[in-house]
Amino acid sequence: MYKPVFSESLLNEIRSKFAYLNYDPTYGKRIFLDNAGGSLRLTESITDKVYWDLFPDCPLRYHKRALDINKIVTDSEKELLTTVFGASKGSIMTEISASSCFFKATRTIVDGVKGKNVVTSNVEHPSAYDSLKIAAERNNLEFRVVEVDKETGFINPQDVADLVDEDTVVVSIIAASNISGNIMDLKKINELIRKKKKDVYFISDAVQHMPHGLVDVVEEGLDFVNFALYKFFGNRGLGIGYCSERMSKLNHDKLIAKDDSEWMVGTPAPTLYLSTLKVIDYVCWIGSHFTESKDRRTLYSQGINKIAEQERALLYYALEGDKTVPGLRHIDNVTVHIDTEDLTNRDLIMAIEIGGISFEDVVEEYSKRGVTLFNRVNTSIYSKRIVEALGLTGAIRVSPLHCQNFDEIREFLIITKEIAEKFKK
Ligand SMILES: Cc1ncc(COP(=O)(O)O)c(C=O)c1O
Repeated sequence: MYKPVFSESLLNEIRSKFAYLNYDPTYGKRIFLDNAGGSLRLTESITDKVYWDLFPDCPLRYHKRALDINKIVTDSEKELLTTVFGASKGSIMTEISASSCFFKATRTIVDGVKGKNVVTSNVEHPSAYDSLKIAAERNNLEFRVVEVDKETGFINPQDVADLVDEDTVVVSIIAASNISGNIMDLKKINELIRKKKKDVYFISDAVQHMPHGLVDVVEEGLDFVNFALYKFFGNRGLGIGYCSERMSKLNHDKLIAKDDSEWMVGTPAPTLYLSTLKVIDYVCWIGSHFTESKDRRTLYSQGINKIAEQERALLYYALEGDKTVPGLRHIDNVTVHIDTEDLTNRDLIMAIEIGGISFEDVVEEYSKRGVTLFNRVNTSIYSKRIVEALGLTGAIRVSPLHCQNFDEIREFLIITKEIAEKFKK
């Protein structure tokens, strides 16, 4: 039903581009299933960065090397805007993390736009939820929260629209859950909220979703959306956001002489923009195996959509298994939380539980067997509200990546069965 789309040779080539794909140079062989906490990295996005890091030249000078460095930043911003976000207008915000971008975006919009309330959901990452709540409280606005459907993990677009009225300043909805992988229907939400208030601001945290699927700011009517380079095959140190033209006109931190579209204060590391370009090139390179087009947005869309298809086949395999090993849905003493038959709107991320052992201890059991993954529990400030919103106390989060293969998933299933049998009461 969900068939892989990468040929064996393409997958091998893809795999050769990632660093430490199936081993840690110090600790040995391992299967890395914590990509939602920080993804496997493209070697080139790091090594090329280091090459450029060695040059001292200021990007604001006019000699050759300086111009080259400056070009990295401008090329990267242009590619982000048009190739990655699908925009023809607007601007790019960068900060040290995706969270900083979101705080800046909510502060700018909520402080700058008149109204009486803001709308969000109870499964937002704290950077989105807290930043909006803080900004709303500062401006004496009502903070309205839509509840996720506990059974399916989806946010019902009509439920969001029901909370919107003529006084709503902004609607903030996560693009995909970082616990259950549900992809929210931003297009439908946009359509419904605009029926209630035509010019309401609409923003989204796409940190989880961007490495697994396409975001289109025009089709989704977004004023702001962000992601983190380190969850998207690159390294830590750069949060990236798209800002609509009207958002850029709102008062925000910038030097007075600079244009409204400027979000940067000072000079961040140009080489992080180089890493970003390498990630974009990589996605377009995958796309080039599936389209003749030379248009960058087409190549990028094809690339990320094929990544999504390949990942859906891995997700299906992890859930169903095969003749040689049962999938997670069929292993005794294993529960798959927020599971839906239809995987079309699911990113490659699973929330599971094994009976008879705590979420903390099970991570250790996996680690002893060479599997790196993590739990999301209600004692963590990062996940408490979200797991409880989904009716859980916690979950083991399993998050593979498109560059991993069926053998690695198979090995993970065998290990899961072994742990589940060991702790069965
Ligand atoms: C959905 C989501 N949003 C935001 C963030 C925060 O990203 P950063 O660490 O770059 O601030 C994370 C990180 O885990 C996330 O999963």
